Amino acid sequence: MEFFELVKKRQSVRSYKPDPVSRENIMKILDAGNFAPSGQNQQQWEFIVVTGKAKEKLGESYGKIGEAYASQWEEPAKSQFIEYARTYGGAPVVIVVTVDTSKYPSTQKMHLESGCAAMQNILLAARDLGLGTCWMTGPLNDEAGVREALNIPEDREIVAVTPLGYPTEWPPMRDRVDPDLTKKVHWVD
Ligand SMILES: Cc1cc2nc3c(=O)[nH]c(=O)nc-3n(C[C@H](O)[C@H](O)[C@H](O)COP(=O)(O)O)c2cc1C
Repeated sequence: MEFFELVKKRQSVRSYKPDPVSRENIMKILDAGNFAPSGQNQQQWEFIVVTGKAKEKLGESYGKIGEAYASQWEEPAKSQFIEYARTYGGAPVVIVVTVDTSKYPSTQKMHLESGCAAMQNILLAARDLGLGTCWMTGPLNDEAGVREALNIPEDREIVAVTPLGYPTEWPPMRDRVDPDLTKKVHWVD
């Protein structure tokens, strides 16, 4: 897909078909992540590809968050949201991006930003292959649960999580708050 079209067609997908994603496509997507810029060229990211039983365990953690979040909601929205959380929208794969940690805040920021760059490349590469994603930090409300489910040690910081799979449908594109960039852009001479 042409780059600017790709950027605009990447949308957060929250409902997936159960169809598997090939290992070849997953590796292509992670290769794009691996080609992101990184602070001091440290390439300080790692990618965890979660499927099967591990995905179920991860879903138990997010499901609990979903239960708390939707506790006051009416049915059927409540049950639907909990099911969405428990299954990551039915996606067959979840990808978790982690980075190195540092005791120095500026270095930690550098690591985290490198991880975000990798994350965005992953999202765009997936879209180019017709696959949906959703950058998610919500599951980190139970960070201990995510660490436990995936055996992530304390010396790795979790950047974000994304489901990966074929969308049941592409959601409508979200409007931008300032589509003409009249307020978001500041020209300084
Ligand atoms: C840092 C970050 C955290 C996010 N966390 C979540 C999340 O936990 N759950 C979720 O459904 N979407 C999450 N999103 C997705 C945003 O809701 C989404 O990007 C935004 O609504 C714009 O929609 P679009 O991605 O379709 O353009 C997150 C996005 C970012 C960049």
